[in-house]
Amino acid sequence: MNFKASKNQYQNMIYNKSGNSGLKLPAISLGLWHNFGSVDNFDNAKAMLLQAFDLGITHFDLANNYGPNPGSAETTLRKVLKRELQSYRNELVISTKAGYGMWPGPYGDFGSKKYLVSSLDDSLKRLGLEYVDIFYHHRPDPNTPLEETMRTLDLFVRQGKALYVGISNYSANETKLASQILNDLGTPCLINQSSYSMFNRSIEDSLLNVCEQEGIGIMAFMPLQQGLLTDKYINGIPANSRAAGGSPFLNQNDINESKVNKIKALTAIAQNREQNLAQMAIAWVLRHKAVTSALIGASRPSQIIDNVKALSNLNFTEYELNNIENILTT
Ligand SMILES: NC(=O)c1ccc[n+]([C@@H]2O[C@H](COP(=O)([O-])OP(=O)(O)OC[C@H]3O[C@@H](n4cnc5c(N)ncnc54)[C@H](OP(=O)(O)O)[C@@H]3O)[C@@H](O)[C@H]2O)c1
Repeated sequence: MNFKASKNQYQNMIYNKSGNSGLKLPAISLGLWHNFGSVDNFDNAKAMLLQAFDLGITHFDLANNYGPNPGSAETTLRKVLKRELQSYRNELVISTKAGYGMWPGPYGDFGSKKYLVSSLDDSLKRLGLEYVDIFYHHRPDPNTPLEETMRTLDLFVRQGKALYVGISNYSANETKLASQILNDLGTPCLINQSSYSMFNRSIEDSLLNVCEQEGIGIMAFMPLQQGLLTDKYINGIPANSRAAGGSPFLNQNDINESKVNKIKALTAIAQNREQNLAQMAIAWVLRHKAVTSALIGASRPSQIIDNVKALSNLNFTEYELNNIENILTT
């Protein structure tokens, strides 16, 4: 049965132009890193995708290796696209990436043309698509000339396999170099996908400025620091949380007393803004004009509904920002 989106689907979402490009991305995008693999509940994954789209989240972010098992998040999306969202392809921005280990041997990792070409072909098959809207190089490769990697991104656009290209986990300097090469090739870098949250502010050192100067948007991934920047860990570690679920990326040791104290203090500020902490954390990354979109994850549809409400209060007073700064820096 084909899904039918609500009439007011686009009413409450904000769409930001990505850098100097013509592509508008939703202020909140949904990533399929966790909870969309073959080991996860398909009906829940489908419900999250449909809920997100119905709230105007037009952008779904994937990578070749998202699962587990690697590749299976792309297969999950193919099933939902085919059964529910086929008629909405033109209203969706779908991205994938390659750059981390995907298959054994010397051609299944990093940034060679050999790896990237095979990987995107595999991703398109798993997704059941002729093209992705954005293809990212997932991480810099110290052993492949940057020209080779960027030429391959340019090739994908010329072949029509990707409409736009981006980079992820590139430093400020690497971003500058990549952007110059892509500009020379005539395929400007659309977006830089980087981790950014109240608990991880490294992009403030120089990447934010470089992206602004180069006309590149920023896709701020992990704005909730995998769920830490919500009210979920205030009273311990709930059984149905990522930290309790055996994720290799978040475990009980990441949640200590000093973090919880900060979470409590931040929650008090959020409450004064009539938001919960998750909503304030999303609004906080979006306060920079270089940030095009906050790339969230979710484990259930209700979290997506909750997080989109962040958009009803994106403004911060100087007083609030100073208080947040004090909490984060002490
Ligand atoms: N380019 C890269 O290298 C890279 C790396 C990492 C991620 N990413 C991208 O970023 C996306 C998001 O990453 P992430 O999932 O770590 O992001 P996140 O938004 O920081 O964390 C998402 C997790 O927080 C919890 N959560 C979300 N909303 C909540 C709410 N309202 N209340 C309570 N808990 C809430 C859920 O965890 P529970 O399971 O605990 O409920 C959810 O799975 C990924 O899917 C991927 O697309 C990219």
